[in-house]
Amino acid sequence: YSGFTRIDGKKEAKSIRDEIKIEVSRMNASKNVVPGLAVILVGERKDSASYVRSKKKACESVGIKSVDVCLPEDSSEEDVLKYILSFNEDPSIHGILVQLPLPSHLNEHNIVNAICKEKDVDGFHPFNIGLLAKRGSEPDFVPCTPKGCIELLHRYNVEIEGKRAVVIGRSNIVGMPVAHLLQNEDATVTTIHSKTRNPEEITREADILIAAAGQPNMVRGSWIKPGAVVIDVGINHVQDLNVPSGSRLVGDVCYEEARKVASAVTPVPGGVGPMTIAMLLSNTLTSAKSIHK
Ligand code: GUN
Repeated sequence: YSGFTRIDGKKEAKSIRDEIKIEVSRMNASKNVVPGLAVILVGERKDSASYVRSKKKACESVGIKSVDVCLPEDSSEEDVLKYILSFNEDPSIHGILVQLPLPSHLNEHNIVNAICKEKDVDGFHPFNIGLLAKRGSEPDFVPCTPKGCIELLHRYNVEIEGKRAVVIGRSNIVGMPVAHLLQNEDATVTTIHSKTRNPEEITREADILIAAAGQPNMVRGSWIKPGAVVIDVGINHVQDLNVPSGSRLVGDVCYEEARKVASAVTPVPGGVGPMTIAMLLSNTLTSAKSIHK
C-alpha cells in the first residue's frame, strides 16, 4: 500500500484561525487592544480585489479590525505614500499591507520601503528580507505564502533537514523567500526559473517540490520523484466553458497526475491559499503583541 495524502490547507488554516481568535480575545481582555490591519489596494485587478476581500473577511472571523483603502489605478506615488505614512503613525493599526502587484507606473520598492518595519506584516520590507537571508538571524515578519508552505510541511510532519528541495520560481513574494526558509531548515535547495534548461531533470531530484511559477499545470507527473511532497502555490484562472462562471482555478501542478506519483500534494483551491491568509492574521497578531508588550 503506497499511501497518498491530500494536504488539507483549508482545514489547517481553520484551526490556526481558531487559535488566533482565542488569542485576540485574550489580548482584548488583558490589554484592551484590538489588533488592526490596514490594506491598501491600488487599481482594479479582479484577482487582487478578491484577495483583499478574503483578507478582510478572515480578519473579521478572528476579531482583528481591518481598514481598507481602495485607490484609483492612476494614483500617484505620493497618494499611496500619504496613506502609508498615516497608518505608520496610527496606534490602532499594527499591520500595513499594500496588495501587489501595483500598477506599472508606481515604484514598488519606494512604496514597500515606506511601511515602517514594525508594521511590515507581509515581510517584504528590505529589513525583514535582509534578516531572512542572513544566517543565524530571524526576521520579525516572514512573507505569508512562504510561511504558509513551511507551516503545512511542519503540520504534516514532513522532514526538511537534509532533504533536496526544489523551488520553481524566484519571485520576491514566494520563490525567493521560500527558498531561504527551506535552506534555514537545512534542506539542500535549488531554485529553477524561466531560463533553466531541462527543468524536469532537476524537479525529479526533489524530495520537496514547491511550484510557484504561475504556469497552469506546468508540473506533470513525470516531473515528480516517486514519494515526493509537492506544494502547489499556483493560482491560475483558466477558461472552462463547461462551468457557469466560464473559468476554473488550477494550480501549477497537474494534480491528477501528481497524486499517482507523489506521497502528498496540496490541492488548488484549498491548499496554500487559505494558509497564506492565516499567516497574515498570525503576523498581525504578533505585531500587535510586540507593539503592546
Ligand atoms: N500579491 C500576491 N500575494 C501577495 C501577498 O502575500 N501580499 C501582498 N501584499 N500582495 C500579494
